[in-house]
This record gives sequence, C-alpha cells and structure tokens, in this order.
Amino acid sequence: MSQPANDPVALEQIAMTLASGAAEVVRTAAASGVEVSTKTTATDLVTQVDKLAERWLADQLATTRPRDGLLAEEGHGMRSSTGVVWVIDPIDGTVNFVLGLPQYAVSVGVEVDGEVVAGAVCNVANGELFHAHAGGGAHLAEQVLTGPRSVPLSGAVVGTGFGYEAGRRARQAGVVAALLPRVGDIRRLGSAALDLCAVAAGRLDAYFESGLNPWDYAAGALIAREAGCVVTGLRGAPIAAPVTVAAGPALAGEFVALLEELDADRVDG
Ligand code: IPD
Ligand code: CA
Repeated sequence: MSQPANDPVALEQIAMTLASGAAEVVRTAAASGVEVSTKTTATDLVTQVDKLAERWLADQLATTRPRDGLLAEEGHGMRSSTGVVWVIDPIDGTVNFVLGLPQYAVSVGVEVDGEVVAGAVCNVANGELFHAHAGGGAHLAEQVLTGPRSVPLSGAVVGTGFGYEAGRRARQAGVVAALLPRVGDIRRLGSAALDLCAVAAGRLDAYFESGLNPWDYAAGALIAREAGCVVTGLRGAPIAAPVTVAAGPALAGEFVALLEELDADRVDG
C-alpha cells in the first residue's frame, strides 16, 4: 500500500490533526467520568481516557499510515517499515487531568530515521495547539514562537518535574532545594510536553527534568528548538540521558553549568 510523502511539513500537519483530534476524544470521554488506576507506583496514574485516546490515535495511524512505526506511552507499538515513527503520549499530565487542573496535553512527535522532524502538542483543557517542523520555526496556532525573554539566571523562572519513585523524588528535591536560591523562582506545572512548549513561548525562562520518556519530550523538544532555544543534556550527553534542559541561548550555558555543579544528572539511586 502506498503512503503519503514523509516531508516534515506534511508530517507536521498530520501531527496537528492527530493531537487536536485526540484532545477532542479526551474531552468527550472525560464527560462520562474518569476511572483512575495506577502503573509503576501508587502516584503514577493512568485512566481509561488515556487508553481510549491512545487507541484512537493508533487506529488513525493504522488506517492512514499503516507502515509507519508507533511508540506510545500506554503500550501501543508498531514496527516501522518506512523510517517514520510516531512517538505519542495520549495524555501528558495525567495527574492534572485527574484533578481537573487545566495543564495536560496530547503530544505527537514524528521521527524520520531516528530524528524528530515534526510535532504537535495540544493542551486539552484550553485547545492551545503548539507545533513545529524541522527548519520551519515553532508556532502556537498561527503565532511564531521565539523563546524566553532575556533575563539573568538569578531572575529566571525555571520549570521542572519529578519522577514517580520516592527515592528519585527525594534526590530531585535536593537538586531543586540547591537551585532555588540561585534562580528567580521554580514552577512544577505537571506536563513535561507543555513545560517545553512554555519555554518556546517564553512563559518559562528555562526547564529541566531528569528521567523523561521519549513520548514526554519528542514533540516539545522540537518545538522549543524551533523557537530558538537550546535543548540539551548535561556534560555533553543527549537529551533525556538522563536530564533534559531547555533555555534561551543567552541563559543556557550558565544554566547547564549550574545543573552540572548540582549533579542534577546524578539523581538515580
Ligand atoms: C509526566 C509529566 C510530568 C513529568 C513526569 C512525566 P505523565 O507524564 O510529564 O510533568 O514530571 O516525569 O512522567 O505521566 O503525566 O504522562
Ligand atoms: Ca501520559
């Protein structure tokens, strides 16, 4: 069966359609009630809506792009015979979703031959649609995103997040305790995908987190990069190995150096 072209512009459009379509699936399903269960720990939540939205996304791709691969948080997977892999989180920020806190998103990233070339992140609660393709800049709907303001590290508002295992969380909290007096302030908003988009949109000055999974950052990291941000790991490591950092180019060097000084990449027990 033939497939549509794999150019980044076309893939971005599909990612946008999938992210906003799945957001509508989430809104509709949630109106009938949310059944919560746990995954890796008692604080790592999943709902029937996460699973339903992921199934909808997998079905859409199986119909329209049957030879592409899929890597999705709640277990849907497909091998790729085209070099294209869709990296999907049906709800990033599930705890916020369960609480009704309006900061959770569908995240759809698209890799071609191992490189993310397009992505879209849709905030389910307010419909905001962030999107990008490689070399095309980052957008919030039609608006071009240009990254954070220029601010010294001592004034920077920094987003972060925590994993779900208690020992790791204690070590992550130690890093934040040492960081807090050296930056402007800290935010823990609860969705890594939206955190990365917030740096792209200048709503956060910087962001870092250890232990993200590919579906958490695939789309958001591209959107932040395309907004002109530096998205990197620590000590020359790739992103998410284990730390993901995003900041404007003026702040990034100093911020990365501070995170390295604080051993933000040494939170695994
Ligand atoms: C989580 C969120 C959270 C981050 C966690 C992620 P989930 O994803 O992105 O902000 O701190 O590391 O696991 O579980 O809501 O899909
Ligand atoms: Ca999720």
